[in-house]
Amino acid sequence: MATEDVFKKLISHSKEYGFIFPSSEIYDGLSAVYDYGQYGVELKNNIKKYWWDAMVLLNENIVGIDSAIFMHPEIWKASGHVGAFNDPLIDNKDSKKRYRADVLIEEHIAKLEDKIQKEVDKAAKRFGESFDEQQFRTTNGRVLEIQAQIDTVKNRMVQALTNDDLDEIKQIIIDAEIVCPISGTRNWTDVRQFNLMFETKIGSVSDEANVIYLRPETAQGIFVNFLNVQKSGRMKIPFGIAQIGKAFRNEIVARQFIFRMREFEQMEMQFFIAPGTEMEWFKKWKETRMKWHKTLGLGENKHRFHDHDKLAHYANAATDIEFNFPFGFKELEGIHSRTDFDLGNHQKFSGKKLQYFDTELNKNYVPYVIETSIGVDRMFLAVLSTAFCEEKITKEDGSVDERVVLRIPAPLAPVKLAIFPLIKKDGLPEKAREIQKMLMFDFNCQYEEKDTIGKRYRRQDAIGTPFCITIDHQTIQDDTVTIRHRDTMAQERIAISKLREFIGDKVNIRTLLQQLA
Ligand code: GAP
Repeated sequence: MATEDVFKKLISHSKEYGFIFPSSEIYDGLSAVYDYGQYGVELKNNIKKYWWDAMVLLNENIVGIDSAIFMHPEIWKASGHVGAFNDPLIDNKDSKKRYRADVLIEEHIAKLEDKIQKEVDKAAKRFGESFDEQQFRTTNGRVLEIQAQIDTVKNRMVQALTNDDLDEIKQIIIDAEIVCPISGTRNWTDVRQFNLMFETKIGSVSDEANVIYLRPETAQGIFVNFLNVQKSGRMKIPFGIAQIGKAFRNEIVARQFIFRMREFEQMEMQFFIAPGTEMEWFKKWKETRMKWHKTLGLGENKHRFHDHDKLAHYANAATDIEFNFPFGFKELEGIHSRTDFDLGNHQKFSGKKLQYFDTELNKNYVPYVIETSIGVDRMFLAVLSTAFCEEKITKEDGSVDERVVLRIPAPLAPVKLAIFPLIKKDGLPEKAREIQKMLMFDFNCQYEEKDTIGKRYRRQDAIGTPFCITIDHQTIQDDTVTIRHRDTMAQERIAISKLREFIGDKVNIRTLLQQLA
């Protein structure tokens, strides 16, 4: 099945099973805004807990904060967002569709890269075992020709974006003969800059002075509290401040479900260090964050680093952790070496000193910063899209059945345990409720007594519940239950007294954290 179809199925599954709903649906929705349903919020909270604990519990020099969404408007001047948080946009006059000009060019480059890959795959088939990919890529005429096109377009784009040269960006689109995917024409408007921040007003008098912004990143709330935390917590450099919270961006092209939203959530950590040590810490945080991702076991080849060609205005090194989403490798997390740009600028704009006295070096300085920044919603999509699986299963009588199962890593699963009485009589529901009462303080448990056991299993598979237990007549006699594993569908008999430990070992976030520590 085409990946596009699988993605569509995932979106409708998310809605049907209470993970994600389009916002304001009964009013025909609100573009690029989504609500999380009863299972979605549990999965989201578990992702956040895994991140928070990995930062704050496992590192004695990292603490958390929760700063306000509204901040003084000068902050966004100091951070560069008022002047430079823009995307270059272009419209196609025939389809009336709006695009990010840099994304159109990046997609063109991706198509050229696909062409090279096709040549490589063809040659690999032709030459078999003796194929030397490296040699082929550096000597084959056709590949070199396409690579030269890629390099030219890339270099021109980096140059144009660095110089804010909007005419040149349009010229690249024209020279590369990029067409609108909807109308198929090259009838483009000029490229214009578009600021992504949402504005609103604070106070009851509506004049210029009262304009404030919805924060486009949570990071600035950390920077402006740097001294508060350092002093009140007697923190010594190197130390970090972590925060999870909402961010808002008026994205030009908002598509791909929850990948690019106008209201989303970030998990950001700013790590304050001595100037000159940033490359060492940048490397350390790249490794640490990749390990966090890999520990979830979403797949060996699902992640890769992508170093930035064009550095953001605040960075002297930057990389993305990209994830192989259903629509290809895209940014999941950013790791930036932000220098002293933010603290330095806040010092300038506020007139307040934001310095640290380093007792080891015996001097004052504005700390440098390594930032790790990941979108909760993108992480959610990474987990859900990898977990979604349609399977054919052969039953004991030889007939074939189908199931949709979400193979969510057990510590992130919304519901950990489903409890089923085999039938609705003979004291089985009462016994099942007893077990629920015993375990509900440890895990998110769900009690179900309607329908056949098979149907109940299917419903739990569809929301990713790792374990189901069935209470039958034998339970009443010997206090054992059958436990059924979501992924293998294997069943075994287990004493009720062992359930807490057996399930806990597999579903607690602690099991992930222990692998990180
Ligand atoms: N403080 C740095 C910063 O905000 P960013 O690369 O713009 O950097 C960080 O954003 C992360 O936030 C991204 O890697 C992505 O996971 C998430 N993110 C950014 N824009 C988003 C959007 N419109 N919708 C969902 N997630 C988004």
